Parts: sequence; C-alpha cells; structure tokens
Amino acid sequence: MAEAIAAKKGSKLGQGESIRSLISAGRLLKRIRALAKEIRRDFPGERLHLVSVLKGGVFFLTDLARSIPGEVSFDFIAVSSYGQNTHSSGQVRLTRDLDSSIEGRTVIVVEDILDTGMTLQYLLRLFQQRKPKHLRVAVLLDKPERRISAVRADYIGFTIPNEFVVGYGLDYAERYRNLPYVGILTLGTAAKRESAE
Ligand code: IMP
Ligand code: MG
Repeated sequence: MAEAIAAKKGSKLGQGESIRSLISAGRLLKRIRALAKEIRRDFPGERLHLVSVLKGGVFFLTDLARSIPGEVSFDFIAVSSYGQNTHSSGQVRLTRDLDSSIEGRTVIVVEDILDTGMTLQYLLRLFQQRKPKHLRVAVLLDKPERRISAVRADYIGFTIPNEFVVGYGLDYAERYRNLPYVGILTLGTAAKRESAE
C-alpha cells in the first residue's frame, strides 16, 4: 500500500507505465544486513574493498557498507550496456574506471542485478588482471533465466523471475532509481511502441 502510493506520488509515471511492488524496503534491508554479516564472517579481520557499479549498485553499496562491521573502503566503476529500453545491447563498455589499484586487496564487486551476466563477465576479467588478493561478487538481485555468460555471484540478495524491475537503484531510461523498493515495471502499449523506435 505505502509502496503503491510512493510510486504514484514520487514522480509521474510515464504514459501507460505501471509498477507493482516485488520486494519491500523492509525486506531489502533485512536481507542486506544478513549478507553483510555473511561477508564479514567469510573475511574476518580483513579490510574489505567494495567496488560498486554505477549507478544502479550505489543504493545496495551504501546499505551493505553500513552493515559490515570493521574496516571497509569503496570505489566506483561505470559501464554501459543498456540503451534507452529494457533490452540489453549486449555490448559492455567501460565509461569510468576505478580511482585506485586493487592489487593485493580483498575486493567485493557490488552490483544491482545479474541478468545476462555480460556486465559481470567483463568486469571480472578486467579485475582479475589487476591481481586482487580475493575477488568476490555480491548482487542484490539475480535473474538466472536470462543468463548468457557463465558467471555466478558469491552473495545473492534475491532470486527473481524474468521481469523488468526498477527501484532501489535500478532504472528504466534513468527513471525510478529513487523508489525505496523494487517493483516490476509494466509498459503500456504506447510506451512499448516508443521504446521500440
Ligand atoms: P547483464 O549484463 O545483462 O547481466 O545486466 C546487468 C545490468 O543490466 C544491470 O547492472 C542493470 O543495469 C541492467 N539490468 C538488467 N536487468 C535489469 C532490470 O530488470 N531492470 C533494470 N536494469 C536491469
Ligand atoms: Mg547496472
């Protein structure tokens, strides 16, 4: 209920678009706290270097980082793989590199969603070449049905069905990232026609 209102109030929905809540803000936070504990348990006493993928992974990073006890640092990288619609172009391009070296560090890649796996496959190859001490992957959402590349995450928040989701960092053409929950976006016929053009 509160979520349906937030979607209506927050920003005007695009023509014909509707959002149905899939994971509430409360459930997201509870699960993220559990993941944070698990990560710390796997690397007790180590400094963890969280590398988040802009922009979608940032909400997950900030909540995760605040729940991991001990020493944590972070950095950001940006890639682009999606155009203005809900279909991946299949091309991954580095648009912003990390600020500092990851050599010898315990690196946790923090990503919003694992879909086809093309983005993470690209990033893991890139990071592996830079000789981190450990390299792990944490994803908030996993959509295993759409996987093309054989990548897997070490820490998974929620496994979700093959639906296009928005909120909590995830966008549709840069919109809806600010929703505090994750919802399924449905495009009306008018919006679908526009995005196909
Ligand atoms: P992959 O390379 O196909 O695994 O896609 C990863 C990226 O695609 C994510 O970081 C998101 O930016 C985007 N993405 C994949 N599925 C969704 C979705 O359902 N909603 C919003 N963005 C998505
Ligand atoms: Mg992303």
